[in-house]
Amino acid sequence: MQKAKVFMTRAYHPEATARLKEYFDVELWPENSTPPKSIREQKVAECDAIFTESYDAFDAEILQSARTIKIISNRAVGTDNLAISEATRRGILIGNTPGVLQDSCADFTFALLLDVARRVSYSERVVREGRWTRLEQTPYLGTDVHGQTLGIVGLGGIGTRVARRARGFDMKIIYFSRTRKPDIEEELGVKWVPDLESVLREADFVSLHMPLTRETERLIGRNQLRQMKPEAFLINTTRGRTVDQKALYEALSVGTIAGAGLDVADPEPVPGTEPLCALPNVVITPHIASGSSATFKKMGMMAAENIIGALMGQVMPSCLNPEALENRTENA
Ligand code: GLV
Repeated sequence: MQKAKVFMTRAYHPEATARLKEYFDVELWPENSTPPKSIREQKVAECDAIFTESYDAFDAEILQSARTIKIISNRAVGTDNLAISEATRRGILIGNTPGVLQDSCADFTFALLLDVARRVSYSERVVREGRWTRLEQTPYLGTDVHGQTLGIVGLGGIGTRVARRARGFDMKIIYFSRTRKPDIEEELGVKWVPDLESVLREADFVSLHMPLTRETERLIGRNQLRQMKPEAFLINTTRGRTVDQKALYEALSVGTIAGAGLDVADPEPVPGTEPLCALPNVVITPHIASGSSATFKKMGMMAAENIIGALMGQVMPSCLNPEALENRTENA
């Protein structure tokens, strides 16, 4: 019997590739960038499964070419690169990788928060560039993290772990989330507030952890930034498009807020000419919050297991649309 065909959009997951090769014919895209649209269209028409990164769009237009594809497995928890309702309509399963990356993302969120508050990267640049000429702390004075209020927007897996870390810093923690989480409130002593505005007004650090959806796109714009305290910081490790980047630049330039720690941007990668990159009160990193070696590997393996589950008729570790199976046609 002919083996099912799997297309992987990157070649940098050797363990996941080896696992998939136990069952399937695996083709690797040889470049370190998203395959062009024409290739993505071709692959949904001739392969059974696709292993993607969160940067690879499989939107409704590309899915018009779908013929043989049965599963798209994202090596990411976010799936804003995929047209899930169109996939469901066409009988295509969607897999993602929750559960294995929250702690790494929460660690990194705290790294950004501490960095921007205590000006770690800023002062490190001074030393490296040979500009440390006097023993004096005054040019580098930062903001204490301990004892401050952390405002979490979106208390899911990552937000909860950020709250856990914040307790170790003796922070007061408030949150706003689509659904209230009484268990976590009790376990971690976090306080629910009834709206985003309350988080923005009360928090010294606002950390974004909601997924990017139509509702959360540009959720943080000029008006929201104005509601924050002038000494407050915004931390974004979710998706760049949840924030109006131009409004953020303005807010940071004129002191509407004190600083920002950003692991995501719009677009990604940001060009070196992006005005935010020139601001001393911004720490910006290239979308690497989940990227410890261990978590990178775990996510790759989970994305591979999602494909094995879907193509071998077994349970997928994480499937977002099992109802897609009801829409399968004979030749799909
Ligand atoms: C990374 O951004 C992810 O969604 O896993």
